[in-house]
Amino acid sequence: MIFDSHAHYNDKRFDDDRRAVLSQMLQNEVCGIINCGTDLASSQFSVALTDSFDGIYAAVGFHPEDLEHVERDYDECAQLLAHKKVVAVGEIGLDYYWDAFPRPVQQEWFVRQMQLAKEHRLPVIVHDRDAHEDTLTLLKQERPQGVLHAFSGSVEMAKEVLNLGMYIGLGGVVTFQNARKTVEVAQMIPLDRLLLETDAPYMAPVPFRGRRNDSTMIRFVAARIAELRGMETDEILEITTANAKRVFGI
Ligand code: NI
Repeated sequence: MIFDSHAHYNDKRFDDDRRAVLSQMLQNEVCGIINCGTDLASSQFSVALTDSFDGIYAAVGFHPEDLEHVERDYDECAQLLAHKKVVAVGEIGLDYYWDAFPRPVQQEWFVRQMQLAKEHRLPVIVHDRDAHEDTLTLLKQERPQGVLHAFSGSVEMAKEVLNLGMYIGLGGVVTFQNARKTVEVAQMIPLDRLLLETDAPYMAPVPFRGRRNDSTMIRFVAARIAELRGMETDEILEITTANAKRVFGI
């Protein structure tokens, strides 16, 4: 069974067939999905999805590219943490690739949301794009539990993240031809710290690269990691499902 630790089924690319896609997957090979908010509206949407589908859980929070209304909406978003199927604060973090907001502003809200997660004894789901050094510094400062999603750092950085007790999320990138660093991480990471994810609708694995991603495609990610480690695909799926349930308290 597949557990997708990071997806965005609120995305408009699912507007035409969202219910059909989710029902179909959850009746077959997918046993769990964490749908991640990136602002208030998408966090509310995630929570509503958890009410419609047994296997869906929500993360709520403000993504570093979506801080436009964070001052106004923060408290209302934080109140969603009381819902029993909200299992994490996310996705939160730093994005120095797009730099949609000044870096000190991104850092401030990253820290505040890590502190919020700790107050609620919840894990965090962290986004780090081109911001490895500051992400690591702030993780070391705040020491949350949780996962560094779509991990794109080096083996050295992975070791530091693991030393903090956190998990590492890998997705479609591990199947890409040029993913040397990510492949190295997939080979070295202790299997009890690995989560699989789609980031759907983005980041579809080979052979579907560029298409709309969904949680069933995690099988290709698991197959690639199994190949790298001389294991069976189903073993990887079983271990990573158990890991996700442990991190998110499911
Ligand atoms: Ni995401």
